[in-house]
Amino acid sequence: MKTIITIFGSTGDLTIRKLLPAINHLLEENLLPDNTKIFAIGRRDYNTEKYFEFISNNLQTKYDLSRLRRHVEYFKLDVDNLKDYQILNTMISGISKEPTRRIFYLAVGPDLLKDIAENLSKSNLVIKGDTQASVTFEKPFGEDLNSATEINNLLWQYFDESQIYRIDHYLGKEMIQNILTVRFANKIFENSWNNHAVKSIRLLVKENEPIFSRAGYYDKSGALKDMVQSHLLQMLALVGMEVPLSYQSEDLKNEKVEVLKKLRYDSKSLIIGQYEGYLDELNIPSDSKTETFVFLKAFVDTPRFKGVPFYLLTGKALEKKESLIEIEFEESSQQQKWHLPLQNNILTIQIAPLDGISLRLNSKVPGLKDEVEQVELDYCISCDHVGNMPEAYEKLILDMNGHHKSLFTGWDEILNSWKFIDQVKTDIERKNIPLTIYKSSKELYDLILEREGVHFENI
Ligand SMILES: NC(=O)c1ccc[n+]([C@@H]2O[C@H](COP(=O)([O-])OP(=O)(O)OC[C@H]3O[C@@H](n4cnc5c(N)ncnc54)[C@H](OP(=O)(O)O)[C@@H]3O)[C@@H](O)[C@H]2O)c1
Repeated sequence: MKTIITIFGSTGDLTIRKLLPAINHLLEENLLPDNTKIFAIGRRDYNTEKYFEFISNNLQTKYDLSRLRRHVEYFKLDVDNLKDYQILNTMISGISKEPTRRIFYLAVGPDLLKDIAENLSKSNLVIKGDTQASVTFEKPFGEDLNSATEINNLLWQYFDESQIYRIDHYLGKEMIQNILTVRFANKIFENSWNNHAVKSIRLLVKENEPIFSRAGYYDKSGALKDMVQSHLLQMLALVGMEVPLSYQSEDLKNEKVEVLKKLRYDSKSLIIGQYEGYLDELNIPSDSKTETFVFLKAFVDTPRFKGVPFYLLTGKALEKKESLIEIEFEESSQQQKWHLPLQNNILTIQIAPLDGISLRLNSKVPGLKDEVEQVELDYCISCDHVGNMPEAYEKLILDMNGHHKSLFTGWDEILNSWKFIDQVKTDIERKNIPLTIYKSSKELYDLILEREGVHFENI
């Protein structure tokens, strides 16, 4: 079947840095059909030639654009002009008389969402219930529960839920997808993924870079809304969920929602921070209280995980870029009898920048003495597949094309994650949680160690 992808915001960072390279790679690998057509929508007075000149001048990593040139056509459109959508509809209908998969990708800020959604519907580019036509929305999906609900009600006015794809690109990452395989396809974890065997769980998304030029968005959002509401809560839900009825999208989503409904956190554990120098960043108000760091201890009150702390940590301008999940298991029941320096088993799922998985075990030191050492069973997926690791957006575009929705966020997940974030935000205000100004991550990790007795420094 033919595929037509229409990208709104075709001159933006997301399109140039992520979407076009992903589409290019899918075409190269014949994973998208050769007759795929891309409409690059923009407000600038470009034609296709000028558009490619613009892309070429703005590429961070150069690659051959000749394949894309065969598929991409620039189309100038005013987002609030219905006539432009009608012309686009005539063009799209003229391309193919056969059933065609039509994806409308909104790579634009949330302020344009209403106009575009309304005009896509009014122009009949997307008819409610037509399963061949779908609309893709990027995060952020709202800025709190009320605004997210408002957006969602608007979308449901024009589209069926089955036509709506809400992207959290973390879900397209290789190791995020692998969480379910590790959990459910390995007998050794089947009986140990619970509060009898797991001592604590750490979920980290560390960034070493500051905010760069994203002041407009970031200062309104902050780390809680930017990272915890989406990536960290999705990671937590995948780790904390029950065995799904099946691995179909609906069953997976239902189990993730159950985790989010049972989620609570200890407000005494909450640490919010702002890196020193944030107020000097371009376009940041000099009195901004926006947090660039968050740490909190949460609990999932299900029989499986009741009592197990889930530590969530994310921040900017930290010592390194790293996203991972660490599952620390309890001491073995024989630990006391050994009189040797044993350590707890730790399963680490590395998400970025490297993709991999490792398991720390206690093992006898080779030789005649009775000594024990810790060894890592280590598998670095991205090391073994250098250059061949698919980008998250490749997987997501492919799944959109194939109508697979399990890596996209359902409304119930968004609703429950905003409920959680709104609660934390309210606590910050009501309980006057102080904003720690940090020069280095060590100051934050020392504070966590002092309060919670948990090490983050060498993770
Ligand atoms: N960049 C990423 O890696 C990333 C990752 C995750 C999520 N997102 C989300 O994706 C969305 C787009 O992000 P981005 O980084 O690509 O933003 P961006 O670089 O600011 O690009 C925004 C795009 O929207 C267009 N636009 C802005 N105002 C418009 C208007 N009034 N009428 C028509 N077009 C308009 C811009 O056109 P002009 O070029 O003509 O201004 C540009 O093409 C945002 O919601 C963002 O939060 C981005």
